[in-house]
Amino acid sequence: MTADNYDLIVKNGSVAFPDGTQETSIALKDGRFAAIGDIDETSAKQVLDAKGLTVLPGVIDTQVHFREPGNEHKEDLQSGSLAAVMGGVTALFEMPNTKPPTTTAEAIADKVSRGRNRMHCDFAFYVGGTHENASQLPELEKLEGVCGVKVFMGSSTGNLLVADDDGVADILKHITRRAAFHSEDEFRLRERRPLALTGKVETHAVWRDEEVAISSTRRLIKLARAANKHIHILHISTEEEMQILAANRDIVSVEVLPQHLTLAAPECYEELGTFAQMNPPIRGKRHRAALWKALEQGIVDIIGSDHAPHTREEKADAYPHSPAGMPGVQTLLPLMLNHMAEGKLSLEKLVQLTSLNAKKLFKLQDKGEIIVGGHADLTFVDLNRTETVTEDWIASRVGWSPFTGMALKGWPVGTMIRGEKVMWENQLVTPETGQPIRFDI
Ligand code: DOR
Repeated sequence: MTADNYDLIVKNGSVAFPDGTQETSIALKDGRFAAIGDIDETSAKQVLDAKGLTVLPGVIDTQVHFREPGNEHKEDLQSGSLAAVMGGVTALFEMPNTKPPTTTAEAIADKVSRGRNRMHCDFAFYVGGTHENASQLPELEKLEGVCGVKVFMGSSTGNLLVADDDGVADILKHITRRAAFHSEDEFRLRERRPLALTGKVETHAVWRDEEVAISSTRRLIKLARAANKHIHILHISTEEEMQILAANRDIVSVEVLPQHLTLAAPECYEELGTFAQMNPPIRGKRHRAALWKALEQGIVDIIGSDHAPHTREEKADAYPHSPAGMPGVQTLLPLMLNHMAEGKLSLEKLVQLTSLNAKKLFKLQDKGEIIVGGHADLTFVDLNRTETVTEDWIASRVGWSPFTGMALKGWPVGTMIRGEKVMWENQLVTPETGQPIRFDI
């Protein structure tokens, strides 16, 4: 074996495989995993000693909103992806509610070219499904850099909306890939709008009540079944939806957010005011407990952050003029590691929820698992390190987090993408390496 057989060997780390953790070495070559096991150190140009660290498959955040083009004062593809890699995220799926919305081939190509060699991590973009573009979706959903179709059934930030059953059915009829849905019932939202009281953010969860989410999810599952299509329902927030979803696992995959697993009403509104406002809302403890139970029972497939940055000034506006959403791409992994330290989930489960299931459900070609031949994307974490979330650490352009001041046990130490160390100990080591994710479709 020549000394430069491999580019790098990562040794002494506890490596997280789908069936458990093992102390072993990983050899990398040309940006891919080349060997796993007992590897002769002299066969590599460089060796990284990961003693004391746990080595995860690169964390994939399948739901972020980065605001470019159109609202770069909140975030752009570069600042958002900096926050991602600082938090241990190696790849992400970005949402279409930008300005203009991502609903055409031109808008997709524009985002891909803005992201390539400028974002700090790998990326794919959702194409927004609308009444107007439904018949073009078969081509749009297969373009380079596209992870699938996203449909807003209830209106949120931006103007994408397909509220009616016929509109959703038309989209489902045309597409073949798994599509993602924001499931809130627009008709019930409109009826209940007067219940959102000026200056009273705690009425957010009254206006956008449980039934808003439940009735939409019920309708959506019926439509998906009739169309015989797979769907992914984003940010599930109620106990009742989990019961419905449990009976429909053959066609539906389920996302839950760290903020819904961590915060609860009414305390979150008392402590954070409009900074806790998001869609669907943070609800009471009964629902938070039900989300954890569903996660334990295997009804949850994916943890996404729903990173939705708005500036401090915008968020401080009087409710309901204040925009919904909070940043989260950088705190997704630290929060989930802390929940792990508290015994709420295992490391194997964390790996399924943050990488492996994304690979399986969205058919990622090279990512989501530490296997020979795959992209050498790794997230290095120290499970014993406790850090406090501070605004100094937050890399998002908006500069705030609902979790500042929280001490979290388990912390991302490094982010490696296609064999390049991108973040190490809070420093950006290799900038702007971002490339579009490839899919088996
Ligand atoms: O709270 C939210 N904010 N929910 C969404 O669905 C959209 C997001 C945003 O883009 O601001």
